[in-house]
Formats: sequence, C-alpha cells, structure tokens
Amino acid sequence: MSGQNEIRDLNLAFAGKSPQELLQYYMEQFGDRIALSSSLSIEDQTLTDMMLAINPKARIFTLDTGRLFPETYALIDKTNLHYGIKMEVFCPQTEALQEMVGKEGINLFYESLEKRHLCCQVRKLEPLSRAFKTLDAWVCGLRRSQSVTRGDMQLVEWDERHNLLKINPLIEWSEEHVWAYIREHRVPYNKLHDQGFPSIGCQPCTRAVKPGEDIRSGRWWWESPEHRECGLHGKD
Ligand code: ADX
Ligand code: SF4
Repeated sequence: MSGQNEIRDLNLAFAGKSPQELLQYYMEQFGDRIALSSSLSIEDQTLTDMMLAINPKARIFTLDTGRLFPETYALIDKTNLHYGIKMEVFCPQTEALQEMVGKEGINLFYESLEKRHLCCQVRKLEPLSRAFKTLDAWVCGLRRSQSVTRGDMQLVEWDERHNLLKINPLIEWSEEHVWAYIREHRVPYNKLHDQGFPSIGCQPCTRAVKPGEDIRSGRWWWESPEHRECGLHGKD
C-alpha cells in the first residue's frame, strides 16, 4: 500500500468527497487498526465528532506530555463525558523522562532546538510510536493553511517513517469552516481559544497571539517559523 502511484490515485479518488465519506471508507477498511490522534484542537474535536457519528466505538487517542494546559485536561474529561467514551491516553516512559529532566532540567526546551526536539521526542514521539504498534492507519487534524510547513501535505499520505497510512480529512478546510462545524454540532472545545490561543500545544511552549497574527505564531514562538513542528509530522 506504500506505492506513490497508489497514493496519488487515492488522493484523486477522494478529491471533492467529504471528510465523513473519507473517514467512513477507511474506518470500514481498517476497523480497530485505525485511530484519531487528537490534541483536542478544534480540528481534532471536529474529527472526533465525525468519527463517533460513524462508529461510537471509533478509536481516539491523545498524547499526554505531562505539560498540557489545565484547560486541555479539562477538555479531555468533558469530551469523554459528552460522547460517553474513554479516550486512550499515552504517557511518556517514566525512566526516559527522569533521565532527561535529571540531565537537562525541566524546561530544557528554551535552551536550544536540539533540547526542544529531545523533549518532544521523550514526551510525544516515543509514546506515539507505542500507539502506532496497534495501528495500520492514523487520522490527523492537519490543515494546509495552518503554516508554511504544511503547504504540501495531502489528504492521504504514506507515512514512510512510521510505515502506515496517514489520513488528513480536513486538509483543505479553512479555520472558519472548522469553527462553523464546531458551532453547528455543538462540539466541546478548548476555552483557551476564546482567550487568544488559536493553536494549543504544551503550556510552556504555547502563548496567546494578537488578532491578525499567524495562528501558529504562539507555538515555540522563540524559534523561526520553519522549525515550528514537534516532529510528529515531519519527513525525517
Ligand atoms: S504539532 O505538531 O504542532 O504539535 P498540531 O498541534 O498542529 O501539531 O496538531 C496537528 C495534529 O497532530 C493534530 O491534529 C493531531 O492529529 C496531532 N497531534 C498533535 N499533538 C498531539 C497530541 N498531544 N496528542 C495526539 N495527537 C496530537
Ligand atoms: Fe516538551 Fe514543549 Fe515539546 Fe511539549 S511542546 S514535548 S513541553 S518541547
């Protein structure tokens, strides 16, 4: 399933179809070997709503880095309650975390790009690789217009690094489109969005932005824009 021609054909076949049609197709194909990777963003909450409408047993997991905002933890609970589900939660390995913090300090990410990547590796990427052991396909809430680093992302991609299919049903959606869905379907969302946080990650690495500023400019704001990814979605 990794052939580039096959992936190109899939993208052509699904062009113009709704995210729900795409999700339904792949959820039927992969059963419990497909899951949404949710950061509780408006995009992921939209996909949660869509996937649970298709199958109330749809798998949804989140990576609890241990450094999320209290509002994000509250939203995990609220979402579980709202839909009557229990989101799967993957946490960092205790020993790796203790070793990193012991050697480099608790807020190492401000010191260099290398240390920031190390923190993302221990707190996000390693737990994600454990989630992947149970999957053949992962669903993400990426949108092309989110940033300079996402302009060439596709609806369906072969994730070379992790050897599985990556599905981005909202790739073409605008932020306004996502908000319209959230309001129409009364989907629970992170209250920080009402306080100037359009994109929310870990608390120490996210700050509010001013109206009109780039939506991801509050993420790792001390780094240059082309570095503002945590490694979940890069090619290497
Ligand atoms: S990030 O790479 O900068 O952190 P962003 O916050 O825009 O990514 O989220 C993009 C997609 O990555 C989300 O829609 C989700 O699929 C996945 N993702 C990001 N953070 C997490 C997380 N903590 N847990 C699970 N999935 C996540
Ligand atoms: Fe660590 Fe910041 Fe990455 Fe979260 S976003 S894992 S706190 S470096």
